[in-house]
Amino acid sequence: MSGDTPGKGLLRLLTAGSVDDGKSTLIGRLLYESGGVYDDQLESVRKASTQKNAVLDLSLITDGLRAEREQAITIDVAYRYFSTAKRQFIIADAPGHEQYTRNMVTGATTADLAVLLVDARKGILEQTRRHAYVSWLLGIRQVVVAVNKMDLVNFDSRIFVDIRSKFQECTGFMDKVDRHFVPVSALNGDNVVWRSPAMPWYAGPSLLELLETVTINENHSPGDFRFPVQNVIRLGQDFRGYAGQVVSGVVKPGQKVVALPSGQRTTIDKVHFYHQTLDEAHPPRSVVLTVSDHLDLGRGDMLVDPERMPQVSQHVAANLIWMSSVPLRPNAPYLMKHMTQVLCCSIAQVVSKLDIHTFEDIAVDTLRLNDIGAVEMEMHKPICFDFYACNRAMGSFIMIDPASSDTVAAGMILRNCATPSDPSGLRPFSAVPYGPRPEPSQAKGLAVWLTGLSGSGKTTICNAVFTEILARGIRVEMLDADVVRKHLNSDLGFSKRDRDENVRRLGFLAELLTRHGVLALVAAISPYRAVRDDLRRSMGNFVEVYVNAPLSVCEERDPKGLYKRARAGEIAGFTGIDDPYEAPLSPEVQCDTAVESIKTCTDKVVTAIVEFFLPTKP
Ligand code: ADX
Repeated sequence: MSGDTPGKGLLRLLTAGSVDDGKSTLIGRLLYESGGVYDDQLESVRKASTQKNAVLDLSLITDGLRAEREQAITIDVAYRYFSTAKRQFIIADAPGHEQYTRNMVTGATTADLAVLLVDARKGILEQTRRHAYVSWLLGIRQVVVAVNKMDLVNFDSRIFVDIRSKFQECTGFMDKVDRHFVPVSALNGDNVVWRSPAMPWYAGPSLLELLETVTINENHSPGDFRFPVQNVIRLGQDFRGYAGQVVSGVVKPGQKVVALPSGQRTTIDKVHFYHQTLDEAHPPRSVVLTVSDHLDLGRGDMLVDPERMPQVSQHVAANLIWMSSVPLRPNAPYLMKHMTQVLCCSIAQVVSKLDIHTFEDIAVDTLRLNDIGAVEMEMHKPICFDFYACNRAMGSFIMIDPASSDTVAAGMILRNCATPSDPSGLRPFSAVPYGPRPEPSQAKGLAVWLTGLSGSGKTTICNAVFTEILARGIRVEMLDADVVRKHLNSDLGFSKRDRDENVRRLGFLAELLTRHGVLALVAAISPYRAVRDDLRRSMGNFVEVYVNAPLSVCEERDPKGLYKRARAGEIAGFTGIDDPYEAPLSPEVQCDTAVESIKTCTDKVVTAIVEFFLPTKP
């Protein structure tokens, strides 16, 4: 198969309005009059419509579909498709009138154009200003203001002209935006598809004519190749493919790519699409890629163009649109969903918020429902991203409250905050100090103790487990010996006495946490069996994880170059070299990191934890 060929123009649009301004009716009418509604849907709308005036209630087309969808999905946009002889259209629409900002934001990362609905009787509202600003912020540069319900103001041209000039005035500072205005009555259909005889003073196109002819940037470059892995597909012994969506750029067999975060380089072998192979695939095509080397990629990893690498950092500045009635809590743990992965993040600082009346930035220390603000945030591990201005999909994310699982914000990454003193943007995970108080429902905590040689993979597994656990709504804290040594145990060295004291203090911290129902993930060499056994006895809820890799493998990995130094005699008493490591005799979990993938190891630990917190057996 030859691959993706551009068809007739495609316009992606989103709609935004306030409650009762007729958005559903307008979308319903566009779908209905362009033949985008199935017969059975139309029949049920016919039955459900009030027969008053024998007018079909077209909002039922939109809302009926929406209701079906809401049962399965709480936050997502529905995409409706319709086409005319000239163009294809995708309308992004989302559930919940009150969640109007969420509606816009989730649909906007791919939208070319925003239709803002204004009720002719009410004029420009605060929400209109907010929607205009949000669409601008989201990078949409075509805006159609549909002044609806013109029939209820006697098709008065002065009202339309007044709304047009007020909108122009208040959005004047938003540069490079094409603004269009159409007076419509979605209910009767005036100027929606056909030009209305009721408004002879309006010489412009109907809304649909406008949507069919508005210039869309069809020649824009597909961007740099980005392919976040959604799933690994294994078929038999030999086939291992990576399923996902081409987010940007083009992918072809023979193309060189680099896998992130590992940095391994390889070449695309084939681009699979169902039972065919493609010569190339363009965004937003979902495909399965095979590569010529054996890589152990998993969900959340990314294949990218080695010549045009994305940013990598765990500290970024972003614009946030706050969508929760619970205000933002600085430094509290949140989940961040970025591309195909979910990770832990916290807002280190709220820099400012937008005053929607003056469109100026004002200093604040939190964000409330519908606020638009700038923040600095940290993730618990680095992410690969592009700035929103360069790549909308790679630069956007949503934030989720881990306690309620509610989506609380949509974000757009503005900057990489890696500072000169922190050039890589990689910082040790700064444990979030004060999370929400434990709830009685999670009364029992657990200490999961990862022990093993330096370089065996304790921190890597710990990080991965941390994310997985957080995503399951279990409160978790990570005690990485390196971090705790830096902040609490800086007085301790590596004598037997000091190591025992280090482990005892870690155990004390872990126990405090478990008392409050928290899962404490500890990663420390903790080389001596006796002190680990003491901990098990005193704590009770204790899972020992032996992170095992032969010394030779750890030495080869040597992530900090310490084995080399120990061999050179620069470090004395190094575990495994000239200080003993006493392996656990009967650990609850054993991860053999030399032969098992990170994912396999993570799954084993997660399974043990989930079984403890959410047991399947009574
Ligand atoms: S423990 O033995 O007291 O449990 P811990 O896990 O806290 O050790 O710290 C181990 C880390 O300290 C290693 O990953 C390594 O980076 C560093 N380190 C420095 N000196 C030594 C040493 N002599 N033995 C082991 N690790 C050392």
